[in-house]
Amino acid sequence: MMATPQKLIIDTDPGQDDAVAILLALASPEIDLLGITTVAGNVPLALTEVNARKICDLAGRQDMPVFAGADRPLERKLVTAEHVHGRTGLDGPDLPDPVTPLQDRHAVDFIIQTIRSEPAGRVTIAPVGPLTNIALALRKAPDIASRIKQIVMMGGGCFEGGNITPAAEFNIYVDPEAAAEVFAAGIPITMMPLDVTHKAMTTAVRTDAIRATGTRTAIAVAEMLEFFERFDEEKYGSDGGPLHDPCTVAWMIRPDMFSGRHCNVEIETQSQLTTGMTVIDWWQVSGRPHNAFVVGDLDADGFFTLITERLAKLP
Ligand code: BDR
Ligand code: CA
Repeated sequence: MMATPQKLIIDTDPGQDDAVAILLALASPEIDLLGITTVAGNVPLALTEVNARKICDLAGRQDMPVFAGADRPLERKLVTAEHVHGRTGLDGPDLPDPVTPLQDRHAVDFIIQTIRSEPAGRVTIAPVGPLTNIALALRKAPDIASRIKQIVMMGGGCFEGGNITPAAEFNIYVDPEAAAEVFAAGIPITMMPLDVTHKAMTTAVRTDAIRATGTRTAIAVAEMLEFFERFDEEKYGSDGGPLHDPCTVAWMIRPDMFSGRHCNVEIETQSQLTTGMTVIDWWQVSGRPHNAFVVGDLDADGFFTLITERLAKLP
């Protein structure tokens, strides 16, 4: 008998890789997706909320509640990544204007009310963009920290360094103050840094396998990935690009495909040179308390097989 599905909120700035994370959740019986909250990140909020709704349309899930959240980081000017994701944030396939409605409620209020109304310890949050909405929810309602089951987030880097600066990964760099507050909140965190996501490469063989399943969603995803990967192919000379954000949802479904260790993680917010760096005590030299399970490796073929099989279940 299958275990009860895990209740999940995805907090996101779509983003082609965000789109795959959402689609993987929608296609997976292990996950009960309660709602999608959007944040400014890869592109401004006005685009990320539209993109999230386009993704729900693609999956035939116009019933999925989508909320708009913070339109800027806590204290800084928004930095975006059109150079990676394209002008719309979701360049690649030609997707129509969304039918899935935008909910009236603010994303932060949805997060707070959901965590308070569901039984304590039942709801996971998967932030795959800057951590602004999560930090705002914790500021407004500190009581929710002890009720959140876990945070499974994409962000940061250890030995892999950064991707937006030499030291910082994009999601953390955009709102380091928010990240620092979230990592200090005492919530169980599983972290997918660049060290693992850079091993999840969308090689031509893997993208072709997704397309070959022939569904409209799979074909749109293949088109997204082919757009998205061109940036990293040029940058790293790799076959494909790293499929960052779906590592979070895949870990919830198949944790056996990932490995990591409990570490102390602190966020640099002061230094001009290294702002947004995740200082991960992988070698346990600081004596500081563990506050995150940091994933370092995955079974990449298993990960892409899971994604391919699940996407094939969508329209
Ligand atoms: C992260 O930044 C965004 O561009 C991606 O969607 C991912 O969440 C990778 O650094
Ligand atoms: Ca993202």
